[in-house]
Order: sequence, then C-alpha cells, then structure tokens
Amino acid sequence: MEDNNLMIEVSDLELALVQGLIEAKQPFWESMKHGGYAEVFGLGENYVVKVLFQQYKNRGIDYEFEIAQELYAAGISVPRPIGLFDAEVNREGIVKTEKGFVMERLLDVASCGEDGNKNRELGRRLEGLLKQCCELGFFPIDHHWTEWGGHNVAYNPEEDQLYLFDFDQWERMDVRDIFYLLER
Ligand SMILES: Nc1ncnc2c1ncn2[C@@H]1O[C@H](COP(=O)(O)OP(=O)(O)OP(=O)(O)O)[C@@H](O)[C@H]1O
Ligand SMILES: [Mg+2]
Repeated sequence: MEDNNLMIEVSDLELALVQGLIEAKQPFWESMKHGGYAEVFGLGENYVVKVLFQQYKNRGIDYEFEIAQELYAAGISVPRPIGLFDAEVNREGIVKTEKGFVMERLLDVASCGEDGNKNRELGRRLEGLLKQCCELGFFPIDHHWTEWGGHNVAYNPEEDQLYLFDFDQWERMDVRDIFYLLER
C-alpha cells in the first residue's frame, strides 16, 4: 500500500480489503476502459483502479487523487476516493508495477439515449456542478454533457445523480482568474 496521505476517512479495514482485492487480481490484464491517458481496471464490484499511461511533468496519479479528495471533502459529486496502491499491470506480456488510484466504481452511464430533454437538463446540471468546482479554485478541463451524452461525467439514473471524474488535467487557480477566463 502506498502512503495514503488521506484528507478523508477511509477505515483501515476498507484499505486492507482493497489491498486484498489488488493482490488477488494482479497482474491486471484487461482494462475495463482505455482513455487517452489512462487505463481503468475493475476491482471487484465496488471499486476501480486508474493507472496513467504516462506521467506528466510534475504530475502523477497522486495529483488526481489529491483533487478527488478535495472535491469529495467539499461535497462535490465524485467517485469516493480510496487511496493510492501499487498494482502490477500487464502490458503486452510485460508486467510493471504502477501507482494506481482506487476509487468507488460508478455506474458508467454517459447518455440518456434519445431523451434529448433529459440530456439537456443534465447539461445544465453539469454546468452548475462545474461552477461549484470553479468556486473551489479549480479550472475544470474536458467535462461536458451535450444532447448526445457526457464526457468524463457519469449519470446514475437510480439516484438521478451526476458524477464527475478524470481530474489529472485540472488546474488549480485563483478563483478570480478562473471567472475572468470563463467570461472572456
Ligand atoms: N470510478 C469509475 N467507475 C466506473 N468507470 C470509470 C470510473 N472512472 C473512469 N471510468 C471509465 O474509464 C474511462 C477512462 O477514465 P478517465 O476518463 O478517468 O481516463 P482518461 O484516460 O484520463 O480519459 P480520457 O483521456 O478519455 O478523457 C472513463 O471514460 C469511464 O468510462
Ligand atoms: Mg476521461
């Protein structure tokens, strides 16, 4: 287990459970989803682990974990962040240990199908959610929900709830600068 410098409470029992799930599963073979910058692997029914393909200059997956914790602690709807764990990942037969960010597994629904009205409503709700992130000092990048569905946003129809994810490219900025940039 990595040094999980937690700002939010995750019990030792849950951390041990996740560590057990990782050990039982590795090496991780097939990712559930390939994004542009990362692979996301399912980890039991309740969790996923995200591993970056490439590390940014000063940023690793720990940067995303930090942001996720801040957003979660501020009450923004994001997958509950659990921690950073070493995970063995298999890429074309080569097994490498990577740092993985474990978080709550979402119902990954990114469209309300033909229901244009619902999709438009979700688009408006997403705008509100992103504005709250701006007020916290984050400049969100690459999150949208259009008539055709969402990107880096999941919708849980049972809860009628949107969830934001994928923060590794978000910038921390002075709130005044954020609103200045958005209003330009
Ligand atoms: N907590 C989660 N629960 C379920 N699925 C998830 C979760 N987080 C990510 N995913 C799935 O994995 C995909 C890739 O994750 P993410 O967007 O974080 O990676 P990325 O490589 O940075 O993405 P991209 O470059 O495509 O925006 C998501 O589009 C989503 O389908
Ligand atoms: Mg993404």
